[in-house]
Amino acid sequence: MSSENASRSRGGPGAAPPVHVAIIMDGNGRWANRRLMSRITGHEKGADTVRMVVRACRELGIAHLTLFAFSTENWLRPAGEVNALMELLRRFIEKERDELVQNDIHLHPIGRIEALPEDVRLALARVVEETRGNRGLQLHLALSYGGRDEIARAARRLAEAVLSAGLRPEEIGEETLAAHLDTAGVPDPDLLIRTGGEMRVSNFLLWQIAYTELFITPTLWPDFSRREFEEILEAFARRERRFGRV
Ligand code: FPP
Repeated sequence: MSSENASRSRGGPGAAPPVHVAIIMDGNGRWANRRLMSRITGHEKGADTVRMVVRACRELGIAHLTLFAFSTENWLRPAGEVNALMELLRRFIEKERDELVQNDIHLHPIGRIEALPEDVRLALARVVEETRGNRGLQLHLALSYGGRDEIARAARRLAEAVLSAGLRPEEIGEETLAAHLDTAGVPDPDLLIRTGGEMRVSNFLLWQIAYTELFITPTLWPDFSRREFEEILEAFARRERRFGRV
């Protein structure tokens, strides 16, 4: 365990707020179905919740927020939904640009960014560049992301370093592998929230959530409120984290 994690092990009143919050934003489709609306309308409402959570993290002094916005498996959805999600993503990034820049938020995409349509990649690259020096909140957006895919890509990079950069196999350990993940240098999430009630991790941050506290709420993502977010943060503060010790 890193000393950073060790210093965050105490629960109870007054416990430190999470440094890193990760969220699986699920339930947009069900939210829309229940209202006889299109799934896309559900995703659009979901984008409003994204805005709310980013603001809340900024205001509450949370250092890292990772949002699961599009998985490697999501490419298998009907083309109309995939295209609409990509369009929504591009519009969101362009619209939020000023707010991110002005509010000291650094945008950091993770995943197979090269698989995204060119207009999304360009919009992302621009905001990444413009927010590069920001230190207030690190916003990691998981796009075309899969945890197994990320670990496989890290393994490939390590194999390449063995072949051509003089890395010796016996030098490879947990820290070396972590340093080749998309999240290199980012502390592991303290808290993983999943909305929509499913009891699974769906290939999200598989390596990084080894000791993460899980909170699953039945609330559908478009209905997730700042109040519920703060209640989860309070419940997190009451948990005692042991990291495998007694
Ligand atoms: C899961 O809901 C959500 C997604 C696959 C996409 C998440 C996208 C957003 C929250 C909106 C856009 C994001 C950004 C960053 C602007 P689902 O469709 O699987 O819902 P269901 O399980 O009810 O069908």
